[in-house]
Amino acid sequence: MIPFEHYEQSAAYLREKLGDFQPEILMILGSGLGQFGELVEDPILVPYGEIPHFRHSTAPGHKGRFVFGCLEGRRVAVMQGRVHLYEGYTPEEAAYGVRVMKLLGVKRMIVTNAAGAVNLSYKPGQIMLISDHILLFPITPLKGPNEDRFGVRFPDMSTAYTPALRALAKAAAVEVGVPLNEGVYMYFPGPQYETPAEIRAARLLGADMAGMSTVPEVIAARHCGMEILGFSLATNMAAGILDQPLTEEEVLECGEACKTQFSALMLNILKRM
Ligand code: HPA
Repeated sequence: MIPFEHYEQSAAYLREKLGDFQPEILMILGSGLGQFGELVEDPILVPYGEIPHFRHSTAPGHKGRFVFGCLEGRRVAVMQGRVHLYEGYTPEEAAYGVRVMKLLGVKRMIVTNAAGAVNLSYKPGQIMLISDHILLFPITPLKGPNEDRFGVRFPDMSTAYTPALRALAKAAAVEVGVPLNEGVYMYFPGPQYETPAEIRAARLLGADMAGMSTVPEVIAARHCGMEILGFSLATNMAAGILDQPLTEEEVLECGEACKTQFSALMLNILKRM
């Protein structure tokens, strides 16, 4: 279990760096989506490696730094890159940044990821608003003694993805003309992509997208009382749907190809938040 003091020391370092800038919304950018961070006005850049106790991201398409600043009048903390369990981190380590942001006073989180489309009506490039998730693996950032300073022992997950924010996101999508489906994200630990049989099972269970991130951060954010919005970008059809192998290149290329739509949607959401 990570000592509470580590979170405090990371937060203290950032407070010092940020002066009187107080972030209100945390945005975590998934594979291929990191470019959105370049839009931040008057950015204060803080590489994860500089922050005491902070974990580095080693995944492709993840820069590994915070961009603090303003977007559409909102004060944001953008994480360009996150850490994943397949890099060898624990779920608690994967959620570390969320808790540090909580200590900085952040109350809302927008979390994004690249994912494989499980729903056969989706196509690569589809953005999905996450309504709920499925976690069948025995992983959680909350394992071990409960840290009461973050939240309760048994947090309720029934409306983890905040209904009012989801309604706001749908209205924002209509206004900018970005097709947005709402659906269920299913977590797989990776780094191997899923098998076709696993994807068929996911579909039977009610999943619309499959991916290797987001859920640890969402659990930690829910635990400490943040409001949450989550988005998956379908970078590929999940395993076994098309007669072709899955590659990391297609994931990053799709992020690049979809960045205009993705950015338009995120900016309009921030404006309305
Ligand atoms: N599965 C899991 N994670 C992913 C995928 C996928 O098909 N595509 C991008 N991230």
